[in-house]
Amino acid sequence: MPRGLLDIESLTRAEIEAILTRSKDFQPAPGQSFKRFDILRGRSVVNLFFEASTRTRTSFEMAAKRLGADTVSITASGSSVSKGESLVDTLNTLAAMRPDAIVMRHSASGAPHFLSRYLPIPIVNAGDGTHEHPTQALLDARTILDRRGTLEGLRVAIIGDIAHSRVARSNIFLLSKFGVQVVLCGPAPLLPREMGEIASGVELTCDMETAIRAADVIMMLRVQLERQHSSPFPASEYFQFFGLRPEHVELARPDVVVMHPGPINRGREISSEVADSQRSAILNQVENGVAVRMAVLERVLAA
Ligand code: NCD
Repeated sequence: MPRGLLDIESLTRAEIEAILTRSKDFQPAPGQSFKRFDILRGRSVVNLFFEASTRTRTSFEMAAKRLGADTVSITASGSSVSKGESLVDTLNTLAAMRPDAIVMRHSASGAPHFLSRYLPIPIVNAGDGTHEHPTQALLDARTILDRRGTLEGLRVAIIGDIAHSRVARSNIFLLSKFGVQVVLCGPAPLLPREMGEIASGVELTCDMETAIRAADVIMMLRVQLERQHSSPFPASEYFQFFGLRPEHVELARPDVVVMHPGPINRGREISSEVADSQRSAILNQVENGVAVRMAVLERVLAA
């Protein structure tokens, strides 16, 4: 089977470390622009996005181009998916053009895993439903490492719509492999007990202050309204109880790193003051996303 990158759960700590270490070679020095490499010259990567995306799609495209590969990006709304073609037929059609890898985002959890069993081409998961978003967890780890130098022993609070977050799942898998103490926090209907059980030592709390006290990292999540079929809480009160404001940041460690995978909703899950503060690493995450995806594409296509 071709090796792609489907999830964090099945990666070893050593494999994750290899990607994170390699990504450093692709990070530009402060004030410099990204360097271009010839590592994937002559190779082609198809980006296939069945869900909305700004940063992930652009980031994968930039990463492939900066390694010298050719890329084609396709969105579901502009493809034959909107004419009723099935997922398998769409993928087989693309595979017949012999790209070297397919980067894929889909609303069904497990879609890339299912397809990777049938296609002779490596698949990189760019987010599958509420399941995993492996490159997001990798770029988050890169960002924490850049600011704090280590993951071991840190306390990371992940706050928001835990139930629907593939970002939370991938981060729980990754961080717990590195001895991080993970605290999950959100309104009770969005904080399922089983999310705390996917790794040992994960704490759950509905209280923001408990989650944030002494945290080294605060990772905020968007409320994923598109995945909620009924309204589990009054939306107008969300910010009052779970929105990150400057007074919360005071409770964390003085060098706390504030993160958010984006897209952010100012005044909903995070205040502008915090999002734009010195503590915020939100744009560093975006920048690191390109370097980490370069390391991932190199690994996937190097075979
Ligand atoms: C996340 C996603 O799509 O899972 N965004 C991203 O990839 N940066 C989170 C979100 O949509 O809220």
